[in-house]
Amino acid sequence: MLTCRTIKSLTQCLKGYRAAGLRVGFVPTMGFLHEGHRALIQESVAHCDITVVSIFVNPAQFGPTEDLDRYPRALERDHELCRTAGVSLIFVPDASEIYPPGFQIYVEPGPVAEPLCGAFRPGHFRGVATVVTKLFHIVQPDVAFFGQKDFQQCAVIRQLVRDLNLGVEIVTVPTVREPDGLALSSRNSYLSSADRERARCLSQGLFAAQAAFQEGERDSQRLVETARAQITEVDQLQYLELRDAGTLAAITGLVERPAALCVAAYVGTTRLIDNVLLTPPPTALADHELELVSHVINRQATAGAEEP
Ligand code: PAF
Repeated sequence: MLTCRTIKSLTQCLKGYRAAGLRVGFVPTMGFLHEGHRALIQESVAHCDITVVSIFVNPAQFGPTEDLDRYPRALERDHELCRTAGVSLIFVPDASEIYPPGFQIYVEPGPVAEPLCGAFRPGHFRGVATVVTKLFHIVQPDVAFFGQKDFQQCAVIRQLVRDLNLGVEIVTVPTVREPDGLALSSRNSYLSSADRERARCLSQGLFAAQAAFQEGERDSQRLVETARAQITEVDQLQYLELRDAGTLAAITGLVERPAALCVAAYVGTTRLIDNVLLTPPPTALADHELELVSHVINRQATAGAEEP
């Protein structure tokens, strides 16, 4: 496994792979890797000839009062996880490599970045869209892999690729969870053991709504209330909303198209996000709706018992 710290050395390394016509898979990360990242890497290793992982804590996606300075870092452990997972190349640039002095052009996402996290983290998706665009230009992957836990991020990136013709296939990989349901996140390391216990109620709420949906409940308000009834132990609920899985438009009334029930809440001082997909039976979906969720559904089926 090679490690590159500069764009120049990465470009040099990738030249050979490209000349050989190899399919390049890319997993962009901010490091402090966990089993959720391993699942992304495994997906890439299974479907691509070489896998590139970037480790870069992107300052542009953190607000002035957010956790950029204390964001967890564990570079040696990250190397080990990448090596054992079959990564070919890690890209670990400094901030000045990505944002050199004089840097001034940012990618401004549209309405897809406005609700949910976008409403609570102004500028966050502008930072994500900018760094992902840069990383895609630098790595030039055929396919890039993102976790479903960051559902809105996936929607923003799909829109970005479509609108700017970036020519990268985007694969969303189902959320990996702790045995008690908590979605894996680098930020879980901030949780005290009491907060960790309380954090379970987020996935419990989402799963309760998902179970009600599977039993035939289609009323959006009742589905949200079902989840809300379980999410009692958080300190601040930022949002709990049903959104169209493709456009992120708000859903009121009946859920008849693929939807995502998304939540963000503070437990202690830690902000956590999670979501579940509520997908009507394939026979009830139009072709483009089926295409939107099929990669997640297929991978959920192969991932086995990750989500009750
Ligand atoms: O999901 C993340 O870790 C980050 O938002 C990403 C996509 C690597 C961009 O910095």
